[in-house]
Amino acid sequence: MTMIITVLGAAGTIGSRLAEQLEERGHEVRRASRRTGVDARTGVGLREALGGADVVVDCLNLEALRAATARAFFEGTAQHVVRTVRQEGVGRIVCVSIAGAADPAVNRLMGYYQGKAAQEQVYASSGERVTIIHSTQWFELMDDVVRRASIGPVSVLPTMTMAALSARRAAAHIADEIEDSTDDPHSRTLTVRGPEVATTREIARAILSSRGSIGGRRPRVLWQLPYLGRGMADGGLVPADGIVDELTLVQWLADDEG
Ligand SMILES: NC(=O)c1ccc[n+]([C@@H]2O[C@H](COP(=O)([O-])OP(=O)(O)OC[C@H]3O[C@@H](n4cnc5c(N)ncnc54)[C@H](OP(=O)(O)O)[C@@H]3O)[C@@H](O)[C@H]2O)c1
Repeated sequence: MTMIITVLGAAGTIGSRLAEQLEERGHEVRRASRRTGVDARTGVGLREALGGADVVVDCLNLEALRAATARAFFEGTAQHVVRTVRQEGVGRIVCVSIAGAADPAVNRLMGYYQGKAAQEQVYASSGERVTIIHSTQWFELMDDVVRRASIGPVSVLPTMTMAALSARRAAAHIADEIEDSTDDPHSRTLTVRGPEVATTREIARAILSSRGSIGGRRPRVLWQLPYLGRGMADGGLVPADGIVDELTLVQWLADDEG
């Protein structure tokens, strides 16, 4: 069955890949973000973007380290989305979130994840049909992690133990889930992870040795320290169950995307 699917944040890393894959499968996709006149923070353009849609997918993002800023954005935008879904009779909300981010033992020192936890809470308690996607980190995230943690030739990365996967493969699993949930009257969660467990430094090293640079940097010293807490250093971001994608970091680096 073809559906009308609004992708909020369709210009971003996951939103653009998801929109592309949903279109390839024959669905009508509405790409919504500020550059298409939709601001989920103020609500401007949301009714037009969601009116008549079967599903809305929240792929919104704000790079915010402070908990108060992240919470205000993720909670506020989710509240606008829920209100508009009710007004327009949209069938399902899909929220792209992060495996482990809502766990206080993991997000204690990570304001951004506290914002994601608040977002999940708004959707989960909305009474609407909701699917929360608990994805692990994407390989693509490593560029930002290294950029933020580097000064000159030295990178001091936060220790994160991850089961990362490619954003394109995450988008494919999300698209499958959207199609599978069409007739389900209940709320759902989907957990998706990559095939290997590795630390930030191990992943950064592999990308660096394959490409020669990472996030536009060429660090000569790569350290990691658990300054974002033991929760994520000790495996709190690695889900025990869920879909395990097959594509390894080495395979991703060998194909066009890496
Ligand atoms: N990175 C990872 O490894 C990872 C893993 C699992 C889950 N996630 C989650 O996936 C979600 C998407 O992340 P991403 O990295 O794909 O994000 P991203 O690349 O930063 O893209 C964010 C998108 O949100 C739009 N946007 C921002 N503010 C907006 C607003 N006020 N109104 C409407 N649109 C707005 C942006 O477009 P405009 O600038 O045009 O508005 C852009 O399309 C996040 O919630 C993140 O936590 C990420």
